[in-house]
Amino acid sequence: MLHIILLDSALELVPREITTLKQIQKHAARRGKKSSELLLDQTHHGQSMIRLSQNERRGRPDITYISLLSILETPLCKEGLLSVHLHLQDGQIVEIQPDVRLPRNYDRFVGLMEQLLLQGRVPPQGDPLLQIVNISLEDLIKKLKAGNDTALTLLASEGAEKTSVNELSSLLPQDSSVPVIVGIGSFPHGVLSEAITSLFNRRLELDKEMMMTWHICAEFVWLYSLRIDIVKTRYSVI
Ligand SMILES: C[S@@+](CC[C@H](N)C(=O)[O-])C[C@H]1O[C@@H](n2cnc3c(N)ncnc32)[C@H](O)[C@@H]1O
Repeated sequence: MLHIILLDSALELVPREITTLKQIQKHAARRGKKSSELLLDQTHHGQSMIRLSQNERRGRPDITYISLLSILETPLCKEGLLSVHLHLQDGQIVEIQPDVRLPRNYDRFVGLMEQLLLQGRVPPQGDPLLQIVNISLEDLIKKLKAGNDTALTLLASEGAEKTSVNELSSLLPQDSSVPVIVGIGSFPHGVLSEAITSLFNRRLELDKEMMMTWHICAEFVWLYSLRIDIVKTRYSVI
């Protein structure tokens, strides 16, 4: 099974220190919400965000949105062989049900994320499709390994071990019962901390240039799908 964790996702509500700024207040009025209930977004809050520490890696929910669209509802996901978690910059973990159908419209996604961060789950009642779970990243990785000594933990990282598509493919197990846990950064700029990096056994650079998160996500999903023959199996009836 392939487990993707989107690391340090740039997804958070507008932090208290900038809720009273004019730009934020205006946006809140347009949306009919309190400033503290808005998802931080560089498109709307860029000027105000200058006051935030590490602002270059925050306020980009679109990266997570496009990445999720590129990996959910794929054949691998439909076969129940993909799990997806978000790791937020404050350390919280979001569990995503693989059968969730995300809105095709970005504004509606923003509304869902606001509900998630305010209430801890979406929808508020019934079986959660998205839910904040009380677990650390380290314990999540241990849980996904499920006690399997052969489980792989791979981190996609620029400047790491140069890995061609063929090398990555042969690294992936053909046996889908072996957990493969992949960490991919879901923020625009900056680097991952050593505390996060050290949780993964192998660090792989997949292209000589910096790629977008959703491209790296898609590369893992499709290479893994080919490796475990999912793509072929879905047409084997012909
Ligand atoms: C847009 S980048 C973030 C930029 C940041 N400079 C970094 O080093 O993480 C988002 C994520 O995509 C992955 N990524 C981007 N380019 C990559 C590459 N050439 N090889 C492997 N992973 C890459 C990494 O996981 C990275 O954290």
